[in-house]
Amino acid sequence: MNIKRRLLAFMLLATALVSCNGNMQEQELKSPDGKIAITINIENDQPAYHVNFNGKSVIKSSTLGFDFTNMPAIKAGWEIVSVKQTNNNSKWEMPWGEKRVVEDNFNQLIVALVEKQAPNRKMNLVFKAYNDGIGFRYEFPEQEAMKELLIAEENTEFNLTGDHKVWWIPGDWDIYEHLYHTTKFSEIDATKLRGHASLAQTSIPNNAVNTPVSMKTEEGIYLSFHEANLTDYSGMTLKVDTTNMKMVSTLVGSERTKYKVKRSLPFHTPWRTIQIAEKAGDLIQSDLIVNLNEPNKIGDVSYFKPMKYVGIWWDMHLGTKTWDKASGKHGATTEYAKELIDFASENNIGGILVEGWNTGWEHWIGFEDREGVFDFVTAYDDYNLPEVVRYGKEKGVELIMHHETSAAPRTYDQQLDTAYHLMNKLGIHSVKTGYVGKLIPKGEYHHGQWMVNHYRRALEMGAKYKVAINAHEPIKATGLRRTYPNAISREGLRGQEFNAWSSDGGNPAEHLPIVAFTRMLAGPIDYTPGVFNIKLKPHKANNQVNTTLAHQLALYVVLNSPIQMVPDLIENYKGHPAFQFIRDVVVNWEQTKVLNGEIGDFVTIARQDRASDNWFVGAISDENARDMSIKFDFLPEGKKYQAILYLDGEKAHWDKNPTDYKIEKKTVDINSILDLHLAAGGGAAISLIEIK
Ligand code: NOJ
Ligand code: CA
Repeated sequence: MNIKRRLLAFMLLATALVSCNGNMQEQELKSPDGKIAITINIENDQPAYHVNFNGKSVIKSSTLGFDFTNMPAIKAGWEIVSVKQTNNNSKWEMPWGEKRVVEDNFNQLIVALVEKQAPNRKMNLVFKAYNDGIGFRYEFPEQEAMKELLIAEENTEFNLTGDHKVWWIPGDWDIYEHLYHTTKFSEIDATKLRGHASLAQTSIPNNAVNTPVSMKTEEGIYLSFHEANLTDYSGMTLKVDTTNMKMVSTLVGSERTKYKVKRSLPFHTPWRTIQIAEKAGDLIQSDLIVNLNEPNKIGDVSYFKPMKYVGIWWDMHLGTKTWDKASGKHGATTEYAKELIDFASENNIGGILVEGWNTGWEHWIGFEDREGVFDFVTAYDDYNLPEVVRYGKEKGVELIMHHETSAAPRTYDQQLDTAYHLMNKLGIHSVKTGYVGKLIPKGEYHHGQWMVNHYRRALEMGAKYKVAINAHEPIKATGLRRTYPNAISREGLRGQEFNAWSSDGGNPAEHLPIVAFTRMLAGPIDYTPGVFNIKLKPHKANNQVNTTLAHQLALYVVLNSPIQMVPDLIENYKGHPAFQFIRDVVVNWEQTKVLNGEIGDFVTIARQDRASDNWFVGAISDENARDMSIKFDFLPEGKKYQAILYLDGEKAHWDKNPTDYKIEKKTVDINSILDLHLAAGGGAAISLIEIK
């Protein structure tokens, strides 16, 4: 140990001792930069915490506790008996993702609490303070007084300092595919969103929101609440108390049990997280959620190659083809797959997804008993699976498997081993899974502990067979991609598909400018950007995409995902000059910089290709047109770039003229500043290719 390190170690020890010498019942933990200060104390005899940022309160005193069905609640009557502070400043690498190197720099405080009266139960609170936010969790050490906990409710409070502006979706126990609402905290009413016509499953029992939920305070501070490392536990929604301006955790339950979570001791809960930022864009740049997860435990995942992919998919959402064969319009044929493989291989696209390839689709939607219906190894007779794989390999395009479980996860569980074994045998390394519909067994919800454990089994089985998973109707992302980097992407939001068939006008232009600061903080998104036939003519008279074409292009950079679909019918891409951007753009990044943004209004993100010095920039706007200046100071010193700009045309407008675009070319370097005009619902996509 060198002198400096020794001194540092001594100083840390000193801090730990000092805090022990003070009032044991009030502890403080600061972030490495000192801006965030968390106090953990006993408030009205109950464990509590509050948070300051730059010396001002951002979370007022908030109590912590639990209700159980098998023992008295954890509430009053606890005291702090010891504390231990440590710190960490290290780096780790993402095997794929929005950046290669992640800094993991935090101070941690473990606060040991004991119940003052018999049975003297023990519980630890672990707090971590980062420069970009905080995380805390409950730990239940092995002890005589409790062996197994049946948790009826977790009562973690988040007591707000004012009536913040909030971007929220309802705390649905079954689906996250809601539009975001922008209201004051006091105006949140999730219960009025019950029973949406375009959702195959939905359950909104409380006036609660799902996470990540983001807010802006009067003082202009940005907060986002979520959870990290959701393992063997129920998803957390946040109940909204509009009178007292606070949120309280409400776990997703099950109709089959009185409790919501069952665990044997020792165990710990997921992290409850609060991202705190002075600029909206810093929420996107935050690594809090992944940092609060454990390191990779499945080893090398180089079998998964980040890629763009085409699919036999949009056809079904437009209604030109079907998943099932009986209709006579079957999409998944060997012939059509080969046509798409040819297109992909000619256009720098690495994958092809084929939906509707396996038997069972005749009994998909609307059938009560979907148990045992889908078969994940048997193809329809007009689809030759090994031949499609072989042809793809010849052309350098890999097949992405598709497993729609129709929310019958027990059927899927039974076949997981066989299905992934088949994939492994054929050399197929990724699968899109789906869980559309009300869950079987009846009484379970998509976001409860039972399903959290199902989704995990799929990831573990996937790791065994070198299979990466892109789940639709998933459990929310909580940063587990760090531990299981075969968790590549997921849906878990209102995707592009709603533009093809929803009865409520589709996704408004502000959708992605909100998603970038909410859902995207959780992890990669399989949104399927890049629809060129914006009005969906002649297939859909009453539906359309509500953005310009340039906005669609920009999404390839704005949205973070190591897989990005190129979803439109290939006839809409062939010969289109703007398609060059999709050909060029990559999906795996060395670094990411958010250049500007306001939640729900606009955002501009620059990302550097992981394999070269090339950069890509994407800017998107909501329903308002706007002008902005982009500084290219993220470029390396001394290098010149050819910028190809895909911009909204003079007359572009998301509704009146969505396909008006123009392409410009410029030479830029680190000193360049460009003025951009984004149309209403518009965007700008820029590729920056190094001039060598
Ligand atoms: C819903 C998914 O989001 C969609 O992408 C898929 O095509 C259908 N389920 C069928 O699995
Ligand atoms: Ca707006």
